Amino acid sequence: PAGSLKDIIAHAKEYGFVFPSSEIYDGLQAVYDYGQYGVELKNNLKSVWWKAMTMLHDNVVGIDASIFMHPLTWKASGHVDSFNDPMIDNKDSKKRYRADQLLEAKAEEYANNGHPERGETLLNRMGRLLDANDLEGVRELIISEGIVCPVSGTDNWTEVRQFNLMFSTQVGAVSDDASLIYLRPETAQGIFVNFLNVQKTGRMKVPFGIAQIGKAFRNEIVARQFTFRMREFEQMEMQFFCRPGTEMEWYDKWKETRMKFHQALGIPASKLRFKPHDKLAHYANAAVDIEFKFPFGFREMEGIHSRTDFDLKSHQELSKKKQQYFDNDLNEDGKPYGNYIPYVVETSVGADRLFLAVLCNAYTEETSEDGKTRTYLKLHPAVAPIKAAVLPLVKKDGLPEKAREIQNQLKYDFNVFYEERDSIGKRYTRQDLIGTPFCIAVDYQTLEDNTVTIRHRDSTEQERIAIADLKAKIGHAVSL
Ligand code: GAP
Repeated sequence: PAGSLKDIIAHAKEYGFVFPSSEIYDGLQAVYDYGQYGVELKNNLKSVWWKAMTMLHDNVVGIDASIFMHPLTWKASGHVDSFNDPMIDNKDSKKRYRADQLLEAKAEEYANNGHPERGETLLNRMGRLLDANDLEGVRELIISEGIVCPVSGTDNWTEVRQFNLMFSTQVGAVSDDASLIYLRPETAQGIFVNFLNVQKTGRMKVPFGIAQIGKAFRNEIVARQFTFRMREFEQMEMQFFCRPGTEMEWYDKWKETRMKFHQALGIPASKLRFKPHDKLAHYANAAVDIEFKFPFGFREMEGIHSRTDFDLKSHQELSKKKQQYFDNDLNEDGKPYGNYIPYVVETSVGADRLFLAVLCNAYTEETSEDGKTRTYLKLHPAVAPIKAAVLPLVKKDGLPEKAREIQNQLKYDFNVFYEERDSIGKRYTRQDLIGTPFCIAVDYQTLEDNTVTIRHRDSTEQERIAIADLKAKIGHAVSL
């Protein structure tokens, strides 16, 4: 069907949005490079998120912490001990799988064949085995369910092993245990360890939040589905520090705020849903995902967690540095709330997953009455890579010069594009394919009365407007 993941990947590659990494060497699995239009779209998404979090909330500020952190950080956060996925190999095909995903696929198969209760039972059994770290039991379950390797068709499975998803490397020239360091698997810990720095230097009063955008790395066992699951990716996270006991209020507030954000980007409500977690992580007392309907089904795009005081408390224990806040607001008894470790509500969205969602949502194939198909990206103008293309109708008679003048008037405010090659129709098509909301055609009339034709991407309708009105018109469209 049109708009399948295959179409999206092909489109992203062909029109300069996303390329496989090191492609001339046949690529590197689950690592991607953003091309000339992709980087603009992604930067726009990050900038819109940053503004929505920091500018629109006067109690949320941003930071930019390092990728490398003291190794104890990951001990405190629980990543060293429990950031694992159970992995299994097929001996014939030498293909590696996540044991839990094999069983989940089987459960889905039961559900699709009219036996959802068998699927449920299977998932419950798997959950119990994984909780007990009974990896042999997980292997037995895979075999007793008759699960075969999709590649070799055999059930010649190895044992199940826990595989830590953190990448590690070394600092300095001496290679010993003390020099082992991890590439952060989430940006959140950079925020936790800076909680007091920001609180004190910014004279922040609880409740307040710290936002951050940055790279994170996970050695995913099975990396699939394009930029949905990558080994190097970017997160946009915010930790909101609040008074214990008030966390559910903030959790509800941030749930709504974040849902509205995605809708403001033009994603329809029908493609978004909340999915509460059936099983809570060790640090959470409430957790929900915002799922987007990708071409391969509803999947997590953003996570919202009420993380209690788990992280700060754990950092306090390991660092031996107090992570308390003194709250001088008065409680019901008229006394200050005093010292406490704040509770945290986290919002965490992957920039690359949001990018993929926005791209999938924008990809449109339309067949007109005369049977012609037009493909275009229906991107919100606020995030479109190019806001307007300035196109002289012909390459002579002073039209290019006039068009350059217009480009120069607009380029300080918007990312505009100039092109004079090929017919105007072909140039429109090229802009449609990268989602440019406006094409400005400069013709002979422009030389006489300083008006241009502005063509709207979605309707393909054209209108005549004064050059002097272009800035306001585009400016209005690109604001969220
Ligand atoms: N600090 C909480 C945390 O990291 P998570 O659910 O593991 O929670 C949050 O990740 C978000 O990061 C996900 O909802 C997803 O958007 C993004 N993400 C996680 N792993 C990813 C991967 N391998 N590739 C791309 N995005 C990923």
